[in-house]
Amino acid sequence: MENTNAWLLQLKAQLFALLALLGVLLLFTGLFAYRQMETRQKEMEQGFFCGTESMSSPLSPAAIAGKELFTANCASCHNKNMVDDLTGPALRGVEERWAAYPRQDLYHWIRHSQQMVKANHPRATALWTKWKPTLMNDFSGLTDEQIEQILAYVASR
Ligand code: HEC
Repeated sequence: MENTNAWLLQLKAQLFALLALLGVLLLFTGLFAYRQMETRQKEMEQGFFCGTESMSSPLSPAAIAGKELFTANCASCHNKNMVDDLTGPALRGVEERWAAYPRQDLYHWIRHSQQMVKANHPRATALWTKWKPTLMNDFSGLTDEQIEQILAYVASR
């Protein structure tokens, strides 16, 4: 009788140990699956982000306003693909070409380009040497903010 009791006790202990082991195992597989789901979700989010980026980068509000201004005022002479010359030069990279001068110089060029030529501004002189006698219109009505919007649009293309 005592033997069977001891044997039963041992069996119970073994069963208990087995159950505990199973429990721990379940816990780990659950945790692992959860972690995997999490990384998959992150990957999907990143993938989605990259996808929209490469399809068509969404324009910032400034660039959207700039697009309208560009289309209305500049597109007749500056190619809207920004890479091919038209009546005027392609504008891609224009900010870098003016980076050596104060930002105001670029604003001033867009408002009164010939004034800059007459004042012998180096960039203006280089442009005029290449493009004369084709004149760029004066856009004295454009504010700094509007010019920045146009430049944001140019840079976004
Ligand atoms: C009538 C044609 C014409 C229009 C309209 C025009 N441009 Fe121009 N643009 C030119 C020409 C031509 C040049 C080259 C310099 C010159 O001949 O004066 C030029 C040069 C420039 C440059 C210098 C580019 C560089 O590489 O440094 C900028 C910046 C520029 N234009 C911006 C504008 C913006 C912004 C508008 C619209 C608000 C505009 N232009 C509208 C004809 C035009």
